[in-house]
Amino acid sequence: MENTFRTSSIRSADRNVCPVASLGTSFSSLFDSETNPGAICRHTPFYGIFSHIMTSSEMNDPDQEILMRLSNKVAVITGAASGIGRAISLRLAAEGATVIATDLNAEGGTGVIEKIRSNGGKAAFRALDTTSEEQWHDVAAWTVEQHGTPDILVNNAGVYLIRPLAHTTVDEWDLMMNVNAKGVFLGMRAFAPLMAAKRRGSIVNMSSTNALTGIAGRSAYAASKAAVRIMSRTIAIEYAFDQVRVNAVFPGFVRTAIAEYGAKKAGATVDDLGRMVSPLGRIAEPEDVANTVLFLASDEARHITGAEFVVDGGLTASPNSPTHISALELAES
Ligand SMILES: NC(=O)c1ccc[n+]([C@@H]2O[C@H](COP(=O)([O-])OP(=O)(O)OC[C@H]3O[C@@H](n4cnc5c(N)ncnc54)[C@H](O)[C@@H]3O)[C@@H](O)[C@H]2O)c1
Repeated sequence: MENTFRTSSIRSADRNVCPVASLGTSFSSLFDSETNPGAICRHTPFYGIFSHIMTSSEMNDPDQEILMRLSNKVAVITGAASGIGRAISLRLAAEGATVIATDLNAEGGTGVIEKIRSNGGKAAFRALDTTSEEQWHDVAAWTVEQHGTPDILVNNAGVYLIRPLAHTTVDEWDLMMNVNAKGVFLGMRAFAPLMAAKRRGSIVNMSSTNALTGIAGRSAYAASKAAVRIMSRTIAIEYAFDQVRVNAVFPGFVRTAIAEYGAKKAGATVDDLGRMVSPLGRIAEPEDVANTVLFLASDEARHITGAEFVVDGGLTASPNSPTHISALELAES
């Protein structure tokens, strides 16, 4: 498996869900949330500690089911063929989710599910243009038929544009709004009611720090990502009663094709630009965003909805001083 953080607890049959069950009956009953309602269970801070104590013989025991953070969950992911969506697909699958990877790009999408399967995970690819209501309907119907109502929807597909206002065409505006905003609207509309009927679900929408701070040349892109921001909050409230959580993620500058395009426009390398714009002094890797999505998708985030998670190395915390400078240099300047 590609994942290095293997969160593993054991359960036998339907016995749910104590990570220390593997330590033996008497000790584990102390911690079993079924026999002892006050017990330490996977929802406690101790979970991470106990989750690492399985012996290799236990892990190899075919009679014991290994529980990962997304065991038995089904996740639909858009824009899964490359960049951040690819990383999310691999990460969620590595934590036990059955991943329905979707994208316009069938070749890239197929590559992702082959990688997941070769890692021992479960995945399928469905072609999906997120701007098509009809295709969303088909993907939803297929998913429910094959895997049941999904637990997780990640609206990640997106397109990017750096263009000054006066040079931005109406077609470019429409493309940004169609893919980035309408695509997310259609995705939530296709899946939120299905999740609501089951009274469970986590939707994660990909926005951008460009929705949070003004930045020249991004009017159409930023407007579309701001739409994602407020839609996420609105739908979070609309579906809270039905226990469907909706959260938004705001990446800063992440090493993908989009970043290459941005760096080229700036006449810099992605690493130089990453160093410059992030107080942490580096470009984010797609896995940095994928880890945040994993948390929001999991039951660990069961009380989080309508929230906004910035993954930007500190960029928006210091909008007036985007250039990376160490405290020491600052003191000496
Ligand atoms: N890379 C960054 O620095 C950065 C920063 C902030 C936000 N984001 C957002 O993250 C998301 C992923 O971007 P990325 O950086 O991985 O870029 P990427 O270009 O590598 O991936 C985008 C994916 O979306 C797919 N896609 C585009 N239009 C589609 C459509 N109509 N239907 C279905 N799929 C479509 C593409 O085929 C591609 O696989 C986007 O929403 C982007 O706006 C990226």
